[in-house]
Amino acid sequence: MRGFNRTRTRSFVLVSTWIGLLLALLLPATALASPDGPPSALEPASPASAAIADLHNFVLLIAAGVFVVVEGLIVLAALRYRRRPQDAGEPPQIHGNTRLEIAWTVAPAIIVVALFVLTLRAQQNIDAASYSAEPGVPITVEVIGHQWWWEFRYPDFGITTAGQMVIPVGRIINLQITSADVIHSFWAPELGGKTDAIQGVINRSLLRASRPDDYYGQCAELCGVSHAYMRLVVTTVSEDEFAAWAKNQALDAAEPTDPAAQAGKQVFAAGACVGCHVIRGVSSPSKPQGPDLTHVVSRPYIAGGILATTPYNLAKWLADPPAVKPGSLMPKLDLSPADIESLVAYLQTLK
Ligand code: CUA
Repeated sequence: MRGFNRTRTRSFVLVSTWIGLLLALLLPATALASPDGPPSALEPASPASAAIADLHNFVLLIAAGVFVVVEGLIVLAALRYRRRPQDAGEPPQIHGNTRLEIAWTVAPAIIVVALFVLTLRAQQNIDAASYSAEPGVPITVEVIGHQWWWEFRYPDFGITTAGQMVIPVGRIINLQITSADVIHSFWAPELGGKTDAIQGVINRSLLRASRPDDYYGQCAELCGVSHAYMRLVVTTVSEDEFAAWAKNQALDAAEPTDPAAQAGKQVFAAGACVGCHVIRGVSSPSKPQGPDLTHVVSRPYIAGGILATTPYNLAKWLADPPAVKPGSLMPKLDLSPADIESLVAYLQTLK
């Protein structure tokens, strides 16, 4: 009787472990697919990411089938052929089964070949899907990875921005991805796969968003101490909104009228800022090390995408950049509170 209870307990533990494993596999997938969760490659918003998601879902389906069959047979064998109280000595010793062995060699081989062919097809679709039947001229955007922020240049529009790439929905975006220093990787999961950003190399990638939204992204290549703080957002808008945005971005910086902002401009022009930051019409360093600030507050985030663009955060950043983003190239400048206040007033005019 005691032996029977022990086997019951053991099979209960086995079955619960099996169900637990299955749930553990499913939970992360559902968490990632929630609308409020982190950006997910399983919520595609472009033909390229749809091809990737389709392939993923198909592989998941096959893998789930294999999991259920294999685990099911393990559980079945453990329950059905377990040692029973009346069993004595060793169970009968048997040898292999040739037909079974051929089956479980051939079946996985067929599955692997099928996945290989489907992967090749998805890779082809990623480009073809983005290209096919698209109205409008493609827009070239140069994407430059820096430690630790993303720069976006629109050579046809004379625009340079940082942290945020604005593009019209439906138009093909011809990304030319490179790096100013170490290797980074451009990745906005809902819009496509990862593309390495390598100094001295231009990697091309096509992107086309299917609907208007903010698509968040993240550097996907370990690139130093603040790698995790190297974020980006791709904002997709209508053609009209894009035209208005591009027109404003191409303008030189507005001249401040407010006295506090005017004082801030003086601080900017007289300080170390001009050595690294472009403000068109105000400063043009020969080798800009930091983001172009001409329209800095038109962007939703500063500091590599980790701080929302608010007066409080601008002040926080100016007071001590490495405290916000460890290893930041922008040093602590020991600005006085009065200087920070007027600088923030000035930056807020750069819309
Ligand atoms: Cu750049 Cu990680």
